[in-house]
Amino acid sequence: MRVVVFESAESVTQFAADQVCRVIQTKNVPTLGLATGGTPLGLYRELIERHRKGLLSFKHVNSFNLDEYLGLSPDDDRSYHAYMRENLFKHIDIDLGHTHIPKTDRVDLDQSACEFEKAIADCGGIDLQILGIGSDGHIGFNEPGSSLASRTRIKSLTQRTRADNARYFKCLDEVPKMALTMGIGTIMESKSVMLLATGESKAQAIRDTVEGPISAMVPSSILQMHPQTTLAIDTAAASSLKNIEYYLESEQNRVAQRTTVNIS
Ligand code: GLP
Repeated sequence: MRVVVFESAESVTQFAADQVCRVIQTKNVPTLGLATGGTPLGLYRELIERHRKGLLSFKHVNSFNLDEYLGLSPDDDRSYHAYMRENLFKHIDIDLGHTHIPKTDRVDLDQSACEFEKAIADCGGIDLQILGIGSDGHIGFNEPGSSLASRTRIKSLTQRTRADNARYFKCLDEVPKMALTMGIGTIMESKSVMLLATGESKAQAIRDTVEGPISAMVPSSILQMHPQTTLAIDTAAASSLKNIEYYLESEQNRVAQRTTVNIS
């Protein structure tokens, strides 16, 4: 696990945008896994900016979003369909036919989940999966206790997650109780993963992810088993890490070596 700690959320954003650009520019048909929530908003703004400046095209990009609430239509402002439309898709040249968000506006949700998994496989898998993290260590909507081998399926949201996400709704009662989410096993098949976290409210979850035991009670901790995972976090999110000095030194070594050997 590569842990990269930045002084500010803005530096996390720049680093994350550079990683996304690298995947888009090195793959013929890049496939991105996208996340929602407050954390990736800066990244999406930066990608839009680079696209506006003519530095980046999404013409050949496929995308797969992690999750969608049950009970909200894609037109609903609070849905993740609307989030992606407003915060990224409508500002860039991505082919909307190549974007995939779990479909929850149908009766057969198991079928929806199967089709979503098949679409990922048909694209040859996800090259780079972007993740945020819940304060309890959930990724996508894989709540504590989720099978670490799970596939795309329906999950009930915990009260804590509903309370955390209530800021996007008028009141807690309005927050959906269930969602269709990419599974942890599905996420783990991504060729690379980049988890973003900023702010002190994520410090414990980051500590548990990096330095805790692997446990279904902290779904993000399974990333310790992924060979290509990078955590890009700010100092506040890193504030509970025990081995912080080692992570900082590792990055300094990486920069120093980069002048003599080929290292990303
Ligand atoms: C939701 C999403 C997650 C996201 C989390 C944290 O639960 N399903 O994918 O990581 O929110 O969101 P934020 O970045 O707003 O803290």
